[in-house]
Parts: sequence; C-alpha cells; structure tokens
Amino acid sequence: MKRIAVLTSGGDGPGLNACIRAATRMAIQLGAEVLGVRRGYTGLINGDVVELDRRAVGGVMGYGGTFLGTARCPEFYTEKGRREALRTLNRLDVDGLIVIGGNGSLTGALELHRMGFPVVGVPATIDNDVNGTDIAIGVDTALNTILDAIDRIKDTASSHNRAFLIETMGRDCGYLALVSAIAGGAELALIPEVETPLEEVARVIGDAYVRGKAHCIIVVAEGWKPGTRALIDYLNSCREELGFEIRLTVLGHIQRGGRPSAFDRLLATRLGAAAAQALFRGERGVMVGWRHDRAVTVPLEEAVAYRKEINRELWELAAVMEL
Ligand code: F6P
Repeated sequence: MKRIAVLTSGGDGPGLNACIRAATRMAIQLGAEVLGVRRGYTGLINGDVVELDRRAVGGVMGYGGTFLGTARCPEFYTEKGRREALRTLNRLDVDGLIVIGGNGSLTGALELHRMGFPVVGVPATIDNDVNGTDIAIGVDTALNTILDAIDRIKDTASSHNRAFLIETMGRDCGYLALVSAIAGGAELALIPEVETPLEEVARVIGDAYVRGKAHCIIVVAEGWKPGTRALIDYLNSCREELGFEIRLTVLGHIQRGGRPSAFDRLLATRLGAAAAQALFRGERGVMVGWRHDRAVTVPLEEAVAYRKEINRELWELAAVMEL
C-alpha cells in the first residue's frame, strides 16, 4: 500500500472529520501517501482529489460536517459511473480506498470490491441502521442534539399545557426516535418498524391529559407511517377528546450538524485508524465496525445485506417507561 484514498459519501454527520484525520494519520504512519476525494463518489468519478498530509487534517477533529465534502451520487449506481471511478483510482496509482458513509455508500464500496479494487468501509450515518456494528459515527452527537431539543420543548409544552409531536430523522429506521424518546422521558415513540394506529396516539395523549400531566411529548421518526402530517391532521380532527392543544416541531437537518461528542470523536478515530490498518493487513471488501467495545471487521456483503433491526428490548423498555 503506497497510496490510499479516503472519501466521505451520502448523508453527512458529526465525526466524519475525525475519521478522515485518523485514517490519514494511521496510513501515513504505516508508510503510505493519502489522497482525499472531494464530494464522495462524484469526486471519484471526476478525479477531484487533494493530497492529505499530517497537517492537512490538523484542527478538524472538533468540527461537524466533512471538509472533503460529500454527495449522493446516482451516477455511481451505473456500471459506467463505477468504471469511471475505477479508472480514476488506477490513473492516480491508488492501491486502496476507504469509504466512510451509510448503507448506500457501503453498497457502492462493495461494488468496487466486486470489481477487484481493495476497499474498506467505515459506518457513518446518524440513522444507525448499518448492520454489523453496534453504533455508527454521528449517532451519539445526533441523539444529544435531539435530546437538547426535547428538553427545550418540554419547557414550553409545560408552560402552555400542550402535546408536542417532535419529528426526528430516520428515513427507514426508528433508532433516533426511540432512544431519544426514552432518554427524553417522552410519552410515546412512533417508528417505522412498529405499526401504531392513529387512534392509539390519540389515546396516549388523552390519557396523559386525564392523568394530569403538564404536557405530552410524542417523538416521531420521519419514516413512521402514515407520517407526521397525517397524524397532526387526525389529532386536530379529534381535538376535543385530547384535552391538550397539539403542536409540531420538525427537527430536520440540525440533527446532522454540530461539534461531535467525545464519544463520536473517539469512535471515529478508532474506526478510521482501524480501516487504514485493515487495508495494510490486506483485508478487502470489509467494513470496520464497533462491537462489544472494540473495532471488528465484517464482510461488506454482510454489512449491507439488510438494515439493522430495531432493538426489541429497547422498544419494550420504552413501553414500561410510560411511553
Ligand atoms: O441518511 C441519513 C439521513 O439523515 C436520513 O435520516 C434523512 O432522511 C436523510 O439523510 C436526508 O437526506 P438529505 O440530507 O439528502 O436530505
């Protein structure tokens, strides 16, 4: 391994810069040059790269986002796009690639592996829906951002005796909504993995009112069906039975930004370094994951085979905690 490339792809999140920094410094320590690929697979197809030395990744650890940029790259899902990416890697004499991203990005990494190129993936998505790792980079910081929002909303909800729907990210996965609901002491979490009828939501709100609660907090994952808009329309149609006035806050992309937490900086550093070490050990087509408090490697094929399922024990705990 004389030269490796690093890219961040897909939805960004806190901790990516720490991961790029660690992968770069470990690779340099092991004797390689490092190229940073700008804007994910788009930059790979266009050959948009920058040399990364130790100083180039100095001072980035504490910042959210990715200084290399990222993108969602539909072109990379085509054979033509992947061949262009491979051409760039070979033209630049790159011996190995580290891909930092979520399910879509890691699926792209598996395709490059199947085309014979040495690739190692690192799980980074606030959704925490990547199989093969207990947690992904960015999740802890996003949870703390959501929790800060829940605590703030609880203040105003109590002042006005209101029920709040708080929508989190999580297109296909309810992890952020479920864990932040438990940590935030919400009355209910609505997640895509579990069907909760509109009538049940109304019952929980009405019950909280009758029991004399000052407020009612419902955390809704954006992927929950039939969706937050349908829910608020339904609740407003039966407003009289609820007792509480209803309000909606959609947290949106603030969950993807912010200075990474200590946990995410450490996780990103350990996984980024482990990815470089795996490449140098000759491992191919694997993802470095975090399991039982240590970095492990799992085949990319296994990592992207399906989305990580919701933790049923957490779901049952949520029910007991008066969710
Ligand atoms: O995949 C992470 C994620 O934050 C999802 O939770 C969210 O639905 C999506 O990205 C938003 O994508 P974009 O930033 O492209 O709007």
